[in-house]
Amino acid sequence: MPDDRFTYDSLRRALGQQPFRFYERVTSTQDLARDWALSDPDLPSGALVIAEEQTAGRGRQGRAWHTPPGAALALSMILRPHLTPDQLPRMTMLGGVAVAAMLSPLLGDAVALKWPNDVLIRGRKVCGILSEATWEGDRMGPIVLGIGINVRVDFAGTDLEGRATSLETELGRPVDRHTLLANLVGHLLHWSRRVQDPILIDVWRGWLKTLGRRVTVYPQLDGGAAFEGLAEAVDDSGALIVRLDSGEQRRIIAADVALVETSQP
Ligand code: BTN
Repeated sequence: MPDDRFTYDSLRRALGQQPFRFYERVTSTQDLARDWALSDPDLPSGALVIAEEQTAGRGRQGRAWHTPPGAALALSMILRPHLTPDQLPRMTMLGGVAVAAMLSPLLGDAVALKWPNDVLIRGRKVCGILSEATWEGDRMGPIVLGIGINVRVDFAGTDLEGRATSLETELGRPVDRHTLLANLVGHLLHWSRRVQDPILIDVWRGWLKTLGRRVTVYPQLDGGAAFEGLAEAVDDSGALIVRLDSGEQRRIIAADVALVETSQP
């Protein structure tokens, strides 16, 4: 395993002037970033919380996200975009596009996004993105964009084996997490200045491997039964448009989606 251990000084060298806080061990970088953002109204957009290990990392739908020490990138970026609540899916798009742009020079078209927020390498999940808004009454405050990348997490023998992967496994060589982090932050800052720009949605669409595929949808909001259909499109608000075999079209805002494997002739 390469010695790319994070320290405050090593991160300062990698990140230049970018404001950040570094912790060896936290519950979740999301919680620390949220507290930091709410306690300091002058904190600039783009400030980061980075941890070497998370003991209660979380993903969508309250699922656990595993961050063993020295094996991953776990960070939360504090952003202050001028968005309305219905535009919030753009934050997840921003995260996905930034991670895909960071990975694609290393892995080319092996990299893809799966709606709504997974980054895949050769069909296996390497990164998850969690966007959480803060609220002051009914006013939306700063957004905390959490990104977790498996760099050398070992999934062998776990129930995620086969579905999750690590960057070094896919590359077949070691990578330096400082370089990855610096690249990722560059892409995040680039796209954070373009959250209002329709180009973000177009670029996100271009990375989505879900489109044109048959999918099984497991609805989250209404607790309805799973159903299958063709993922036809994503609309400008980030919703997935699925055509059922009956011809009915459904607009999906929150769900888990599995790609249906079709056997090749
Ligand atoms: C998902 O795939 O459901 C999203 C996973 C997001 C994980 C990252 S790791 C950094 C940040 N801190 C957390 O507790 N979660 C996010």
